[in-house]
Amino acid sequence: MPGPRVVAGTAHPGLAAEVAALLGVDRVACDLERFPDGELHPVVGEVRGDDVYVVQPTGPAVNEHLVELLLLVDACRRAGADRVTAVVPYLGYARQDRRTRAGESIGIRVVLDALASVGTGRLVVVDPHTPALEAMSPMPVELLTAVPVLAAALEPLAPGAVLVAPDLGAVHLAEGYARLLHRPVAVVRKARLSGKAVRAEALVGDVAGRPVIVVDDMISTGGTIEAAIRLLEAQGAATDVVVAATHGLFVGRALERLAALGAREVVVTDSVPSAPTEPTAPVAPGAAPTVAAPPTRCSLAPLLAQAIGRLHRDEPLEELAGG
Ligand code: R5P
Repeated sequence: MPGPRVVAGTAHPGLAAEVAALLGVDRVACDLERFPDGELHPVVGEVRGDDVYVVQPTGPAVNEHLVELLLLVDACRRAGADRVTAVVPYLGYARQDRRTRAGESIGIRVVLDALASVGTGRLVVVDPHTPALEAMSPMPVELLTAVPVLAAALEPLAPGAVLVAPDLGAVHLAEGYARLLHRPVAVVRKARLSGKAVRAEALVGDVAGRPVIVVDDMISTGGTIEAAIRLLEAQGAATDVVVAATHGLFVGRALERLAALGAREVVVTDSVPSAPTEPTAPVAPGAAPTVAAPPTRCSLAPLLAQAIGRLHRDEPLEELAGG
């Protein structure tokens, strides 16, 4: 049986290369031309009759990467691919999953419909903002989880720590970590005031005198984590804070923000590439805590390669999806 074919978009070629290497296949040749007016023009190599996996997270610049993904899937379909799976470890717009006031769109529904309309046969996503994504999708969705990968990195970091969900949406993740790490869970109730501003309103659980590991699906501006840590401090949690999230977008000065809060370590996956502003050198011993250390990045390549291998062989993925 011919192997799976991996098409790498420009969003994260390093991750796609690692995935292809683990699968033991070459990436499909692929060119992306940019027209002077900003249009994208991808051209994929020979994929006729193939089982194709387009690897393209839609982190910043989210709209560029999303349109490129749509065009790549369309190109593969038109080139005669037998089936096309979009492997989108970080799926942007997933937070826009309901209307909170009149006049809003449901962004994720638009994205899912667009992916289906270009012929995406199946979508693979890691720890999306809401597992309800699957119910909104016209095409089958494989929900993978990075919790076991991140839990292995967190295990030695904060013995005796309480796992803290910084909002209600993160409770299922915190519970997943808690099952693997055998630690208690606390939950912050958060109100979102805008895309940039949040307020932590209350804490459920006992954190007094304990180190904490704050876990979330994603860190964008760092506002959610900041609000949670401020509340935890006010509730008497020890100042020993580790932060973990599946998707480390680190928009703007998010890492500096976390460092200023005294977060000892920030652990994320490589679902999106390092942000351009991300520091590359470790903090010098004794340096001011407001200087951000680079986050620890756990590779998703083995998880994605395993998922692609199984999909290609029509095998079930349940154990890669947590539960
Ligand atoms: C929202 O509910 C998500 O789960 C994250 O908590 C949030 O999107 C993180 O964004 P930021 O870092 O900008 O607060």
